[in-house]
Amino acid sequence: MMQFRGNKLPVFAAFTAAAGLMSLTLAPSAHGQAVNTKEVAKGETSGHYYKNVTSAALKDTTPSDFIAAMGVMTAALGYDCSNCHPGAGTDTVDWVTDKDRKKVVARKMLDMVVAINKTHFAGVQQVTCFTCHHGLDLPTTSIQLDKLYGEPPDEKRDIVPVQAGEPPAAQILDEYITALGGAAKLATLKSYVATGLSVGYEGAGGNGNFQIFAEAPAKRGVWISFPEHPDRGTAAWTYDGTTGWISQPRAYLGKLHLDGNDLAGAKLDSVLAFPGNIKTAFNTWRVGPEDVIHDHEVYVVQGSSNGLVGTFYFDKKTHLMVRYVRQTPTPAGRVSIQQDFDDYREVQGIKFPFKYAFLWLDGRFSAEIKDVKINVPVEAAKFGKP
Ligand code: HEC
Ligand code: HEC
Repeated sequence: MMQFRGNKLPVFAAFTAAAGLMSLTLAPSAHGQAVNTKEVAKGETSGHYYKNVTSAALKDTTPSDFIAAMGVMTAALGYDCSNCHPGAGTDTVDWVTDKDRKKVVARKMLDMVVAINKTHFAGVQQVTCFTCHHGLDLPTTSIQLDKLYGEPPDEKRDIVPVQAGEPPAAQILDEYITALGGAAKLATLKSYVATGLSVGYEGAGGNGNFQIFAEAPAKRGVWISFPEHPDRGTAAWTYDGTTGWISQPRAYLGKLHLDGNDLAGAKLDSVLAFPGNIKTAFNTWRVGPEDVIHDHEVYVVQGSSNGLVGTFYFDKKTHLMVRYVRQTPTPAGRVSIQQDFDDYREVQGIKFPFKYAFLWLDGRFSAEIKDVKINVPVEAAKFGKP
């Protein structure tokens, strides 16, 4: 299996993960067992679906949100799945057993996190695994002196603090719409097909066929296949307006019917596939302190509703979006999916980004678009079950 960065995520799985597919590290593929192959019944909870899920925090989640929580825990501690699940990534993986001490500790930590937030933060999820662990399995306790006198920490809070003196969110979003071609022009956009190639990172994961399909108001399908490596199968992430699917042939859940927060996130991305609707995507908007991303000075605009958070970074000069980070909640902390956009080009009066990068926890993928066709018919299958 092709891998990069030691035993971390294979690039193919990196893409699927970036597209919201929960396959963190060491995807078992042909060499290991999927977590579970049975279909998820409607409304089925993790406590019922899995064999040995007992924590109060996780047992009532949907099975797909459960795997998302596993991904968040794994990343927060700098682990891969095998650190708590013996043999993960091999044929002999046993997801159910409690024989690894760290898994038992993690279950207690889940209870502790819920208790801290309940007792001290009015039930708001202020403390997560990452708050203490910061990518380490054993959290540190004191600041190192060279850090004290070094660069100031550049980590960002999930919820941006409102910054006085910035333009209102509506103005920044309107400038973005104007920069793309204007509201009237965007309203004529009913569908598009963007076709390109995966570029990969660090020389891996390139030469995949990459396609984005979209149909207004909110249908979207992202598909990738590797013609030179048909054994990798086709990965897809689809949303047809009501249901969402992911297909990740080489990863933990194989084909997954999206549910819970995963489904809400897929819907959000589909709404945002038509940028003229961006203002309707969230109930609440705020503008945080300005920032710099890839040498672009940016406005930072954040929307939220029902626990979903979307943070958008707009170039102050061109008004185009350079980054979109969407976060969906899990009991272990928020799952972040980042998309970076670059090389905007005009297609029949509407600007589209021709460079994409997707990042999710420790997985990442990038693609170059070769061609965008607008207002063309798209087969319903591109939005349905892969
Ligand atoms: C820090 C330890 C830790 C890591 C890392 C971890 N898990 Fe878990 N995993 C747990 C705990 C704890 C449970 C049981 C949760 C409960 O009882 O509520 C669990 C349960 C599971 C189960 C349910 C098995 C069953 O049928 O009972 C699956 C599937 C699973 N994990 C998948 C994963 C995957 C996939 C990864 C990597 C993305 C992962 N886990 C990483 C701690 C971990
Ligand atoms: C309030 C701070 C805090 C939070 C929040 C927290 N932990 Fe911990 N965790 C610790 C500390 C401190 C240790 C080390 C304890 C020790 O050294 O005995 C630890 C140890 C662990 C270990 C054992 C590591 C080892 O190698 O022995 C695991 C696994 C773990 N935590 C998982 C989690 C998970 C999963 C979450 C989120 C659900 C979490 N922790 C949230 C403070 C925290």
